[in-house]
Amino acid sequence: MSDRTPIIAGNWKMYKTNSEAAAYMTEFTGLVADAAGVEIVVCPPFTCLEQVRDAAAGSKIRVGAQNAHFQPEGAYTGEVSLPMLAEIGITDVILGHSERRQYFCENDADLALKVDRALVASIRPILCVGETDAEREAGKTMEKLKSQLAGGLAAIDEGRLTDIVIAYEPIWAIGTGKTATPGIAEETIGFIRETLAGMHGAEAAGRVRILYGGSVKPDNISALMAEDDIDGALVGGACLAPADFSQIVKYKQV
Ligand code: 13P
Repeated sequence: MSDRTPIIAGNWKMYKTNSEAAAYMTEFTGLVADAAGVEIVVCPPFTCLEQVRDAAAGSKIRVGAQNAHFQPEGAYTGEVSLPMLAEIGITDVILGHSERRQYFCENDADLALKVDRALVASIRPILCVGETDAEREAGKTMEKLKSQLAGGLAAIDEGRLTDIVIAYEPIWAIGTGKTATPGIAEETIGFIRETLAGMHGAEAAGRVRILYGGSVKPDNISALMAEDDIDGALVGGACLAPADFSQIVKYKQV
């Protein structure tokens, strides 16, 4: 058993209006009030951030965004900056989600800047990495992960690795109901930790939290969390219902 505190993070993606978010938070804050030994992060759309922050006040729930631009301000129509998020009390930001890489052309060079600027803004980056089905079939998983880690972490200052959370999300497992087996997730996350040790030393790599994401549900979270190197989960579909997400958060207690 590691002494890394687990993190259960929910990525709402493009779901929930403000009224839906209000109803969700009323129910969810009650359900997780007694959650122990775990960090909880809720990542709603930009439109709900302040409201969810207010609803989470006084609880242990952290509030994260799902993306941010690397520039502090500028003529970038439709974008939101890290200082803007920091000023409203946002503590976390998901960066490099595969949906952003796939549909919005986000690349490792952008991510290197985003990760570094998030740290500068005192917002914790949750950097997502993961391979496609074809890459896994072709035996290219480790190569892909290595290049995403080297790329996404290229600009961080010495000593900052442990301020970052890594989320391993195999693309073939996202929204497909095809969860990686605990064995595959553990093996791959172990490889990510070794790669980080090669880049930043074993001590820092031993402290960094690495989450698994991809069809995490109340009925598979415990088996995933039983693995040594898996430090939590980044949950999509199953975080949208407060009852399901609270069961995942309280996997130790049920
Ligand atoms: P699902 O849990 O719906 O597979 O989504 C995972 C994910 O993309 C979380 O960021």
